[in-house]
This record gives sequence, C-alpha cells and structure tokens, in this order.
Amino acid sequence: MSNQIILPSREMPGKWYNIVSEMVPDNPPAPPMNAVTNQPAGPEDLIPVFPMGVLEQEMSADPWIDIPDEVMDILSIWRPTPLVRAKRLEEYLGTPAKIYYKNESVSPPGSHKPNTAVAQAYYNKREGIKNIVTETGAGQWGSALAFACNFFDIKCTVFMVKVSYEQKPYRKSLMHVWGADVFASPTNKTAAGRKMLEIDPECPGSLGIAISEAVQMAVADEKTKYSLGSVLNHVLLHQTISGLESIKQFEMVDDYPDVVIGCVGGGSNMAGFTLPFLGQRMRGEAKKPGLRVVAVEPTACPTLTRGMYAYDFGDQAQMTPAMLMYTLGHDFIPAGIHAGGLRYHGDSPLLSKLVNEKEIEAVAYHQNECYEAAVIFARTEGLLPAPETSHAIRAVINEALECKKTGEAKTIAFNYSGHGHFDMGGYDLYLEDKLIDYAHPEEEIKKSMANLPKVTPPQM
Ligand SMILES: Cc1ncc(COP(=O)(O)O)c(C=O)c1O
Repeated sequence: MSNQIILPSREMPGKWYNIVSEMVPDNPPAPPMNAVTNQPAGPEDLIPVFPMGVLEQEMSADPWIDIPDEVMDILSIWRPTPLVRAKRLEEYLGTPAKIYYKNESVSPPGSHKPNTAVAQAYYNKREGIKNIVTETGAGQWGSALAFACNFFDIKCTVFMVKVSYEQKPYRKSLMHVWGADVFASPTNKTAAGRKMLEIDPECPGSLGIAISEAVQMAVADEKTKYSLGSVLNHVLLHQTISGLESIKQFEMVDDYPDVVIGCVGGGSNMAGFTLPFLGQRMRGEAKKPGLRVVAVEPTACPTLTRGMYAYDFGDQAQMTPAMLMYTLGHDFIPAGIHAGGLRYHGDSPLLSKLVNEKEIEAVAYHQNECYEAAVIFARTEGLLPAPETSHAIRAVINEALECKKTGEAKTIAFNYSGHGHFDMGGYDLYLEDKLIDYAHPEEEIKKSMANLPKVTPPQM
C-alpha cells in the first residue's frame, strides 16, 4: 500500500491564510520602522522596492486572500504536493510515533520557494515590471525566482552568496537554463558589494550583503523591483498553501499532528507549513489542542535561540526598514555551513513574535548531527534532503526517539522543504568525516548587537 496521501487537484486551496488575522485587533504585529525618521515605515519607503500587489498583502490583516488564477495555473504544475507517511523511518527508529512529511521538494526547482516566487513574479508582471533582482543563499530561492520569471517573461538577476556559489555550481547552471543572470556576492557591481570587498577581498558573503546589493540595483531603475524569498509577511502568506493542503490530507487519513516541525532560515517554509495548524490552535479549532510547533535552526546561526528580540535592519547596508525580530545583528557573517539557506542574521517578524510569545518553540542543532539525520532519511525513505531540511529531520528523529522512551504514539509532521541534489559537496565531507561544527561565539553576538538601530515604535 502507498504511503503517499495525494490530494486531488480540484482540492488545491484557492486562498492563502494570514496568521495576522489572529493577532488583530488586540495584539497586532509591531510596525516596520524608518530608522532615519524614527516613524513607522509607510508605503513610500517600500514602493521603490516592491509592487503594490505585494505591499497590500504585506500590510493585510484579512484572514483569507484569493490566489489569482494565473498563479494557480503555474502552481498546478507540481501542486498539490504529497503528504507522505515515513513508515520505513519509523521502523528503522523502532518508534511508536507516526512520522509524516510534506514533500515540497517535488517542485521543478526542488523546494518550497516557487510557492512565493510564482506569486511575486505575477504581481510584478501585472504592474509592468521588466526586471526582478534578488539574493540567494543556497541557490534554491534564486532558481525558484528564475523559474517563475521565465513563465512571466521578466528578466531575473540573482546575487548569490559567494560561499554557496562555490559550494553549489550547478544551482547557478539551473538559473542560467531558466534565463537568469547570476553573480557571486559581494560583487563590484554595487556600492554595498564594493564596500565589503574593500574591507575583505576574500569575504565569503552573507544573505545580508546580497540583499543590500539586490535592493541597491532595484531602486536604481523604476522598471526593476526587488523580490525577497523569505522573512516578510507576504512570503509567509504565499507559503501557507503547504499547511492548508496538509490539513486536508490529514483529514483524508483521519489523523492530526501532535507536533509540527520546520527548519528556519528566514522562516517561510516552516511558517507556511505550520501556521495554518497554529491558527487552528489559536482559534480553539485544533483537533489536538496541545499541538506543538517547533522551529529548527543551525547552531552556527542561532537567531531564535540566542539572538535578541529587537528592531534591526533586514540587510547589511541598512537599506531596508528596521523590523522587530530575533536578530544576531545585521552585520553578522555566519560560518560557511552547508545549509546556506539558514545563514540569515534575522528571522521573520511574524515568526519571531510567535516565538517571543511562546506560541512556537525553537531549537538549534550542529551540522554534523543534521547530516547524520539526512543520511538516515536517505537510507530509509530514499529521498536525499537539502542540508536546510536536514535540520527539521534531526528534530523529528529526536522527537520520535523520545516517543520510543515514553511509549507515546505521537503523530509528528514536518515540512520536507527541499531536495539536496545540488548539495553533494556537504554530503561528501560528512561521509569523509571532514565536516566541522560551528557554534557562534558569544563575544561575536555581543559585538554585532552593539550596532542595532535605535528606533522607538509608537505605543499601541
Ligand atoms: C530547501 C530549503 N529549506 C529551507 C530554507 C530556509 O528558508 P526559509 O526559512 O525561508 O524557509 C531554504 C532557503 O534557501 C531552502 O533552500
């Protein structure tokens, strides 16, 4: 019998879910702030960067937002994605727990990222935009945006963090196939890149620097916009299609999770999968009211577990408004771990708020223990996880082993955010026992915290 729970195409959700609707009016998210004027950032701060269709969603508190037909049409190339019972992993672990994964790796670029890339390309096209510029860490986001821009006939330019550019050369090739230009960041094409290269010509790059480069290029031309693959409210919104599908898939097998888990870079795949479940819990509608929600990050970039909950910029050159989030400081450059998509100094403000309010738990793991989990997964379930995804798998295995000790038959579900077919360098090092673990030093955290912007949000 198949372990896959397949949702019929006609059941694909036609609306995205917005968790902000559970927060208003009593406990709304803190506004992004313009750090120069010390005023909440208004549309004028963001119009040069994003199209209006996206900005409206960024500010929206509506619970449900329609997915346009043009977006549905492209998403249906690979959606609905399967929810899969990982029975072979359960047997290997000898756990009474049931383990399910939502397989977002079946998208053509190989991850959850096109769920938002397609939507963002659509809103840009609708407003006559000709070029979209972005950053990418692991290369998954850059590939997803290249894929989406190709469908809407928009030129795509990607600043790829240099360490990942070197670790994953075929991600760049994939972006080229879909017609994008790709540069190893920091580059000498922008002021932010040149400044970094002056300080350190060997700089490995960071998502914060690559974002600065992309934003600088976007604001210089009115037919060019910037696109972000994570962190912001509209990105989380677009990702909720995976959690909404999963709720229907659990209904099909008359089950419901006790715990939902996702890895966190900027927070989008974890939020997209878990927030529809969390919304049910917040409204008192969850089939299991004790449902737990767990975010997993690397010890080399421990934003949620060791960062500060404070206003900070989204990028290194302070181009973005300041947002209230967990942060390690916008000028923090994490160690070159192989989970390039988890090397971000901040986190989604919405996710940060939910962690701060203890609605969501956070844990951090070293890369070796995550690769160990990934290899167990590959040898039992057969699928090769992205290094980012392996963090979620580590947490799942630990939960399942805890169930083995206690004898509890919990249902554990996680987002299988992407495959690792372009990430073989990290696997080689792990199998040769050459992979190094990094814990971010406390001194470094304190140093970057000294540079946080000083803004005072209005009293709400
Ligand atoms: C496969 C995969 N999973 C997870 C992430 C982390 O990003 P986010 O936290 O936005 O889901 C990335 C980012 O590149 C990724 O490529």
